[in-house]
Amino acid sequence: MKKIRVGVVGAGFAANVHLNSLARVHGLEVEVVSVCSKNPESSKAFAQANGIPKFGTDYKELLADPEIDVIDICSPAALHHTMVIEAAESGKHIICEKPFTGYFGGEGASLPVGSAGRQKMYDVVNERLSDVRGAIDKSGALFMYAENWIYSPDILKAASILDATKDKILFQKAEHGHSGSHAWHAAEWSRTGGGTVIRQGIHPISAVIWLKMRSALNRGEQFGIESVTAEVGSVCNSLSTHERRFIAARPVDVEDWGMVTINFTDGTHATILAGDFITGGVRSVLELNTNTGSIVCNMTPNDGMMTYFASDEALKDVYLTEKVENKAGWQFVTVEEEITRGYIHEMQDFMECAAHGRAPLSGLDIACEATRVVYAAYLSAERGERVKY
Ligand SMILES: NC(=O)c1ccc[n+]([C@@H]2O[C@H](COP(=O)([O-])OP(=O)(O)OC[C@H]3O[C@@H](n4cnc5c(N)ncnc54)[C@H](O)[C@@H]3O)[C@@H](O)[C@H]2O)c1
Repeated sequence: MKKIRVGVVGAGFAANVHLNSLARVHGLEVEVVSVCSKNPESSKAFAQANGIPKFGTDYKELLADPEIDVIDICSPAALHHTMVIEAAESGKHIICEKPFTGYFGGEGASLPVGSAGRQKMYDVVNERLSDVRGAIDKSGALFMYAENWIYSPDILKAASILDATKDKILFQKAEHGHSGSHAWHAAEWSRTGGGTVIRQGIHPISAVIWLKMRSALNRGEQFGIESVTAEVGSVCNSLSTHERRFIAARPVDVEDWGMVTINFTDGTHATILAGDFITGGVRSVLELNTNTGSIVCNMTPNDGMMTYFASDEALKDVYLTEKVENKAGWQFVTVEEEITRGYIHEMQDFMECAAHGRAPLSGLDIACEATRVVYAAYLSAERGERVKY
């Protein structure tokens, strides 16, 4: 079997997660042959730390490199759209981090970008989705959307149960939230394409759509979204600096809370909560009700392993789970976090797809549907009414 050779764009958090997961792919030979990052020092440091032979600052060098089979895009969201189109044109297979694309302002845009009208954002995003779909379809390249929730063992197990029961999903509720990101770029619409709904909510939005698509396929039914309803807001605005001391998020022109309801064409629904104000670690949960049963996916926190220590002084260097304020008292430990969060299964699927030319579990349809739902949600929240598809 041919070795799969990967070129990684970006040398930050997501690139590190991808590298760790690519290193754990089994049954296939995989090599990361090149990395590029805007910052030359970080590109070099990343290459040296991971034994990557080539490094640079221009992603176009990766697109032109005949040695590379797969371009793994781990750059900031505002760059995804152009990079995916150019990667498709280069004929290479593509992995793209979430969010697929969005509205980030640009020439002539009102400032701050988050103050722009949501109809304009929705229109721009729909146009981008159709451009990028056109480029990928034309190239025949594989598009693999790095939505790790779909590869979480809980969601994969839920899917296999739905495959067996052929049940109809009547309602899903899902939540992804934590106490917010320290990263300055998470605070600005121009960098992230929105606030907590696109940064965090996009994970459960993608998962509920994927499960609903899969259940429709099992049942020989048509999948469709009829409309989206949403509210978004900034719930921490009224707090003093002291009162918000455990909340990392410092939004500039983005929301820190969002509730999105997806209304499917078969009369069923899914409701998603996204939040940047939730203390106690990362909450990633999805619950669904079918015509014969219920499934609860407690990805994090879960009580698979718990610890209690009277003091956390000696635990300074021990990782228990992401974003907890302290490590004393009862704690829900996330064991094998990269598996729990789906990263390991995700890269295994993507490398198998690249090797065998099959479609990934998480591909272009999910990327497009989830992105469109996010911007329909922003439009709905602005209008105070349902946005019909
Ligand atoms: N799935 C997940 O759980 C998850 C987690 C974190 C981030 N992400 C996503 O991954 C993407 C990157 O986020 P991050 O947290 O790694 O950000 P980061 O800031 O840590 O890293 C971004 C990297 O991209 C590089 N970069 C910027 N402009 C570039 C350019 N023009 N050409 C080449 N490289 C360039 C930067 O130098 C940096 O190395 C975002 O879309 C984010 O939403 C996903």
